[in-house]
Amino acid sequence: MTKTPNSVTMDESAERIILDRGVQGLVGKSVARIEGPLKTSGRADYANDTKLDGAAYGFVLTSEISLGRIKAIDVAAARSAAGVLAVIVDHPLLPSDGSAGNASLKRVPRDLPEVDSYGQAIGIVVAESFEAARSAARLVRVDYDEREGRYDTTRHLEDVEHEPKGGLIPDIKRGDIDAVMASAPVTLDITYTTPHYFPAAMEPHATVATWTGDGVEIHSSLQLLKTARAMIAASLDLDLSKVRVLAPYVGGGFGGKTGTGPEVILAAIASKETGRPVKVALTRRQTAHLVHHRADTHQRIRIACDDEGHILGIGHNSIVSQKAGRSFIEPVSLGTLAMYKGEARSFTQSAVRLNIPVAGAVRAPGEAVGSLALETAMDELAERFGMDPIAFRKLNEPEKDPLRGSPFSTRRLVDCYDEGARRFGWDRRNPTPGEVRDGEWLVGMGMAAATRINLLQESHARVSLRLDGGALVETDMTDIGTGTYTILAQIAGEMLGLPIDRIEVRLGDTNLPPSSGSGGSFGAASSGSSVALACETIIAELARRMDVSPDQLVLKDGVATARNVQSSLVDLLDGDDIAAEGVIKPGKTARAYSQAAHGAQFAEVGVNAVTGEVRVRRMLAVFDCGRILNARTARNQAIGGMIWGISYALHEEAVVDKRTGAFVTRDLAEYHVPVSADVPAVEAYFIEDPDRHANPLGVKGIGELGNAGAGAAVTNAIYNACGVRVRDFPMTLDKILAGLGPV
Ligand code: MOS
Repeated sequence: MTKTPNSVTMDESAERIILDRGVQGLVGKSVARIEGPLKTSGRADYANDTKLDGAAYGFVLTSEISLGRIKAIDVAAARSAAGVLAVIVDHPLLPSDGSAGNASLKRVPRDLPEVDSYGQAIGIVVAESFEAARSAARLVRVDYDEREGRYDTTRHLEDVEHEPKGGLIPDIKRGDIDAVMASAPVTLDITYTTPHYFPAAMEPHATVATWTGDGVEIHSSLQLLKTARAMIAASLDLDLSKVRVLAPYVGGGFGGKTGTGPEVILAAIASKETGRPVKVALTRRQTAHLVHHRADTHQRIRIACDDEGHILGIGHNSIVSQKAGRSFIEPVSLGTLAMYKGEARSFTQSAVRLNIPVAGAVRAPGEAVGSLALETAMDELAERFGMDPIAFRKLNEPEKDPLRGSPFSTRRLVDCYDEGARRFGWDRRNPTPGEVRDGEWLVGMGMAAATRINLLQESHARVSLRLDGGALVETDMTDIGTGTYTILAQIAGEMLGLPIDRIEVRLGDTNLPPSSGSGGSFGAASSGSSVALACETIIAELARRMDVSPDQLVLKDGVATARNVQSSLVDLLDGDDIAAEGVIKPGKTARAYSQAAHGAQFAEVGVNAVTGEVRVRRMLAVFDCGRILNARTARNQAIGGMIWGISYALHEEAVVDKRTGAFVTRDLAEYHVPVSADVPAVEAYFIEDPDRHANPLGVKGIGELGNAGAGAAVTNAIYNACGVRVRDFPMTLDKILAGLGPV
């Protein structure tokens, strides 16, 4: 039997955490990924592993100029090359750009024959093999009418667009920051810059498309299936019902798979044209231009203090780049909004329009790069007061949201500072830079605060209690390496009183109930709540069948106990499955309470006094992100985020050729992400304070929180080690060496 959906809108705070009813003992435990054996044995099919009979291979043709008009394309040689099935350059639905996870965009855009960024899709070659398609692509001759473009943010800082359309947060001006800066006894006014970053997921984007009749099936590497489906339907002029999108396994997203790339649409077009399933896998080098990147930023931080270190005013004004006509604006000051005290506030995001590929959401949009600047500035100011960086932050810890005046739902930041300091051994830090030496190495410690807004998205799930004594969880949610399969199984097992191996989880298929998808660290809260709510309906039905109230029912190991009566769940099914749907929707609590997750990041580094080389020696963080669903996957998320902090502080930089508008760091040899040798012992701990205002589970997002503040902990440790501040990231050894004195 199927019950009516159990739908909850978060207009009221949860009276109790829904998971607390469970006694199975699964939630919170360190549970290994249930799909782990499939992945480690190569049996989990990622998009490009999809096995379809008779598949052909597509290779995306890309532009070799940044700005101009395509006058002619000569495909004759390519078309007659061995194994080539089709060369498609003039299809009316041809896309050129990805959607960059941009909700305001209704379809993957097509503005050809105008080219407006380098490496843009201009067509596709389809052949019997990937190699044949790639080789034939080299034979395509494109004749361009090229124009001069704008490729360098720093050259156009005077020509910015204020309050650009597509800003994720409005500009905020309260009080008069200029006046406060002019009159305050202690002020800081520093501009920090961050470069473009690639999302750099391990699995390059890939799509396999196949048609059955007038419907298309898309196997693709995507984070958000509901939006992808809508984007694909609009781009192909199809009814939504004609599009099925599947992404059961995704090899990392980091924001880069929130959008729908041109290769998805091209695969569908190529499959239609050739009558074959078509596989399109981007090469790593193609991802540089065909996948959105994070915008570079220029961030002016102004902080005005009284004599004792109380913040009187705070300004975080940024200029970020974006492609002309596109609307995702990196929300740089997002993490600054509610972070510290101070009456005067100025938070603005302005845009420089460039003719480079589209910028979009990458790994904690806003907080990651924003915290790098803000938290480095806080360290600089603490030193001016001769204060411990933690004491300075505590002095400016607000009691309520300083901007909105609303209460924090939960905010255990001070506890994170204290516990982090204790665990890390912060009291052993020498506050004077350059005094701790270990041979050639100058050693230092640094810390930073972390914050990330907490989000909830509408999400639907179906749970079925089955005659075989197990349960099935179904939703179109994705698991992008985050542990979704496992936490949803834990939630269902906890609620229904079943061991984890009795729970089957099916994800990543738009034929299943639509979920939040994976993005903005909202996945666990959103999809998890929907699963728990579906279970609640099943529990109510079981209680009814035992003639007790749900509260009297205890479910464990497949047995229901109420009062002195016991029954196996299978017996209660009475010959038919019980299926139920759960729906969670965000509501008024999102506005009534200021919701964010918090943490304190600590790092110890060695800086080589001769070469300026930095080795991070250890990192430790304590996070407050509500209830923890799985100690292992939570820790994985947290330390993954922290490692990205090392990465953007020290390594990552997507370099644009200022003459051509092309990214030149197109592979992982040139685009540096940390490898194992760069990553020391990383420890993450949690203060568990379930947030009743956030969602019925009391959980908050983790992955992007781990990213926030992590880079600044490293840069502050570098300063403590050697007395060098670098304000233009990444902090590579050449920049540090320039500041080091004689050995
Ligand atoms: Mo995220 S950058 O919203 O995947």
